[in-house]
Amino acid sequence: MEPITPAPVPHLPGELDRLFYRAADDFFVSHAGFSLTYDDVSLATLYSEILPKDANYETELAPGLTLHLPVVSADMDTVTESRMAIALALNGGLGLIHYNMPARQQLSEVSRVKNHVHGLIREPIKVAPDQKIGDILSLIDEKKYSFSTFPVVDETGVLLGLLPGHCVRPRFASRAVTEAMVPRSSVLTIRENELGDDPIARADRFFTDNIGIHKLLVVDSEDRLKGLFTLSDIERITQERSLQTKPARDGKFRLVCGAAVSAPRDATGEIDRNGLLEHVGALVDRGVDAVAVSTAHGHTKGVGDSVRAIRGAFPQLPIIAGNVTSASGVEFLAGCGANTVKVGQGPGSICTTRVVAGVGIPQLTALYVCSKAAAHCGVSILADGGITKSGDIVKALTLAHAVICGSLLAGCPEAPGQIMEINGKFYKQYRGMGSHAAMKAGSAARYGHAKDSAQKSAAEGVEALKEVSAPADAVLAQLAGGLQSGMGYLGASTLGALRKNARYTRITAAGLKESAPHDIIEVKTGN
Ligand code: XMP
Repeated sequence: MEPITPAPVPHLPGELDRLFYRAADDFFVSHAGFSLTYDDVSLATLYSEILPKDANYETELAPGLTLHLPVVSADMDTVTESRMAIALALNGGLGLIHYNMPARQQLSEVSRVKNHVHGLIREPIKVAPDQKIGDILSLIDEKKYSFSTFPVVDETGVLLGLLPGHCVRPRFASRAVTEAMVPRSSVLTIRENELGDDPIARADRFFTDNIGIHKLLVVDSEDRLKGLFTLSDIERITQERSLQTKPARDGKFRLVCGAAVSAPRDATGEIDRNGLLEHVGALVDRGVDAVAVSTAHGHTKGVGDSVRAIRGAFPQLPIIAGNVTSASGVEFLAGCGANTVKVGQGPGSICTTRVVAGVGIPQLTALYVCSKAAAHCGVSILADGGITKSGDIVKALTLAHAVICGSLLAGCPEAPGQIMEINGKFYKQYRGMGSHAAMKAGSAARYGHAKDSAQKSAAEGVEALKEVSAPADAVLAQLAGGLQSGMGYLGASTLGALRKNARYTRITAAGLKESAPHDIIEVKTGN
């Protein structure tokens, strides 16, 4: 019998590392025909001079659209409306306002984000001059307000004075607000157009200059009340600001905001070009920073025609389009004019596309294939769906330019929807845009169905609940911290370096078990 000659084992440490921990091309090509997702791989550490806190995760999605946090909130009706988009932009990311609402409402949601001034309470609780202090006490009691100082305005909103908290006492219950208020001439205010590029810094300076004043009222040129800053909010924000990443802003210092659109069809089945362009034009007028032509199958004539029409009418507008999982899908959408391509078919936590249609690609392989085409075509890609922890973000960003999160954000107070209590625990609704309920509410076109037949069509998503989580600021801070740790381990000071440096190895079910806390009784979770 022939003796078995063992394969030569390299001796040099660098060669050993290269053999076992492989660069993207080597690793994914050697697994060709076999698709992998986040939990199938782990990243190898590399020599590093980068401390996690110094890792910079800025990313450019399109010319003129740079994010300081590579996280985008999903265009889903249980994830992103203006509150979530504001939270994302304040943390450096981007919110995509969903389209399961009337077009006019989507425009208002975009305006809310674009007009948001952090720390400025736009609709402060006001009182009328002829109210009695007793009425104000009842109001505070009924609404459980934790404050008792109120601006006083007339019926047209013009500022008449300020009712100070120390006068709002039962002993004055029968007295009128006018008797107790500080008159307009003694109330310090600032004009809306004097807030400048950095309203927080302006308000902060005001409170330093005016000892003992706790409220700064904002008025317009006709002295109508337009908002209010409080000293405590400004102090909290200024403190947090020194710890946090930069908000994502446009050239006019407004928060960035994206909006999703579908590929709408007219009665003849053709893309409703006029309707689409009219709506995108209105979004652009409101200051939208990117539109996302968002469907389940982006490598289609309808999506291509929609992207081409938008690109023709708005040459400078960043366009996101998807979803695809193939290199030819990326090439197609890039050729139609998209700047950024959404990658993901079936990885989402609420998705059933792979179950229902038998279609889709595990996410990491899809990202690798699409990243090669994206580099060739000069576009960026978004890793959409299936992100369950910050480690998945690190893995996704070894191939993509940013991630899209649904499930991780759906439990935040900023997500649309009511909190419900079940057996002493608090939950929010989270549903797939391809679920029957969401398709009926408007997203049927995303899955290639007509709205009125949505109930009869095969759903590609489920309706679910998410346990209520911390506010988006805290969730995003955790994700950003995890991303920085990953970058530190890979010696990557930027996301470009992360993509270049990444070395992968496949792990087994036993390896995956070893990767999370095991064989202990956990008394405090890592979150
Ligand atoms: P995660 O995992 O973050 O995924 O919850 C969010 C992404 O899932 C996609 N999505 C769907 N996919 N059926 C699907 O197959 C659906 O009903 C559905 N709804 C959302 C979408 O890409 C989202 O960003």
